[in-house]
Amino acid sequence: MIKVRGGERLCGEVPISGAKNAALPAIFASLLTTEPVIIHNVPRLADVETALDLIRNLGKEVVWRAETLEIRGGEELCWEAPAELVQRMRASFLCLGPLLARAGKAKVAMPGGCALGPRPVDFHLYGLAKLGASIIVKDGAVVAEAARLRGHMVYLDFPSVGATEQLLLAGALAEGETVVINPAREPEVVDLAELLRKMGAEVAWDGDRVRIRGRETLGGAEHTLIPDRIEAGTYLLAGAITHGRVRTIGAKPRHLAALLDRLSLAGCEVEFGENWVEVRGPTRPKPVDFRTWPYPGFPTDLQPPMVAFLTLAEGRSTVTETVYAARFGHVEPLLQMGAKIQVSGNVQVVEGVEQLRPAAVEATDIRAGAALVLAALAAPGESYVRGEHHLRRGYESFGEKLRRLGAKVWEEGD
Ligand code: UD1
Repeated sequence: MIKVRGGERLCGEVPISGAKNAALPAIFASLLTTEPVIIHNVPRLADVETALDLIRNLGKEVVWRAETLEIRGGEELCWEAPAELVQRMRASFLCLGPLLARAGKAKVAMPGGCALGPRPVDFHLYGLAKLGASIIVKDGAVVAEAARLRGHMVYLDFPSVGATEQLLLAGALAEGETVVINPAREPEVVDLAELLRKMGAEVAWDGDRVRIRGRETLGGAEHTLIPDRIEAGTYLLAGAITHGRVRTIGAKPRHLAALLDRLSLAGCEVEFGENWVEVRGPTRPKPVDFRTWPYPGFPTDLQPPMVAFLTLAEGRSTVTETVYAARFGHVEPLLQMGAKIQVSGNVQVVEGVEQLRPAAVEATDIRAGAALVLAALAAPGESYVRGEHHLRRGYESFGEKLRRLGAKVWEEGD
């Protein structure tokens, strides 16, 4: 549980960790080679530990040195991923492509639904089948086989982050060229492509498509992960919602363009340099409308924290969620804190209130949890946010970083 005494303005600088969503695919990329893969700037998060447990189970050795991971070994890979680890975290499904490409066969449990609504893997399976895999889904698991994957053209009906990464990973060891049309262009996907390029695959971003030419074997590589734009956005919003002034160190402003644009419309003062961003919150935000959209659109992962901020706006904001069917886990608890939000289909209408009130609330996923802590920071008095384990999946030293900014927060165990 996180205890928050709200009402303090957050001010100061906060260092941003390496991106969780870049770390996870990079860890699975290490399955593609027997040579060492060294990854720098890796955040210590529960999801990263889950990914490491998974690759250890499959035959890899992992050594941590401060924020650096060295992954080696795995001459013989086990082709069956433990269901428990796949179901704990959806991104674990990314081991399917690399296992298939390396071992010729893979069995990976279906990740199933989650708090954000149904999240199928049909694009992943469609793409791998185009690359020549025979796929059956049986007893809740995918069993895929292919003597050698062959590059092919794959059109994605939606620019799915996971499916694009799956196809880049599989394509890196496939024979010939894989072309993904309508790929995701999130910075974390580009970061994975960069790692695969260092490992020996040829990758080219080409307008509406990305091409990857595979190799028979891939080599080791050394790579530094990009900073976590979602973590940075969360702290900038924590400053903004408390009328404070927060500067993030490390995150790239160009990765945050959509958020910074909406924050200036809401009346925040925004400044930035190459590797830092500073936001100063207004006394009361102006309402703004936005919709979530694939990069460079407004990131769905910052929708719940942004809604928390807009609950205090002077007027009505309309927020449209286009990436997930049901990313509204923050709404019910925010209502308990005095927010006025109406959900209709995928639209939230947020009627700003003058003040939020403290409450005991429960987080149901990582970003809903962040939204609730932000709301609690703005609500004068003591709030309790249960479900801290969700926050540990995605925020490194969350309480500590908030305290550095002057927040009164205590982690008390769930
Ligand atoms: C990744 C991020 C997550 C972020 C999301 C969208 C990681 C580890 N997680 O998740 O934080 O919220 O991108 O930016 O990087 N879909 C299908 N079929 C598929 C695949 C996806 O219908 O085969 C749908 C999903 O249900 C969802 C949408 O497409 O509604 C976006 O999903 P996707 O981009 O694949 O997200 P993830 O890779 O799971």
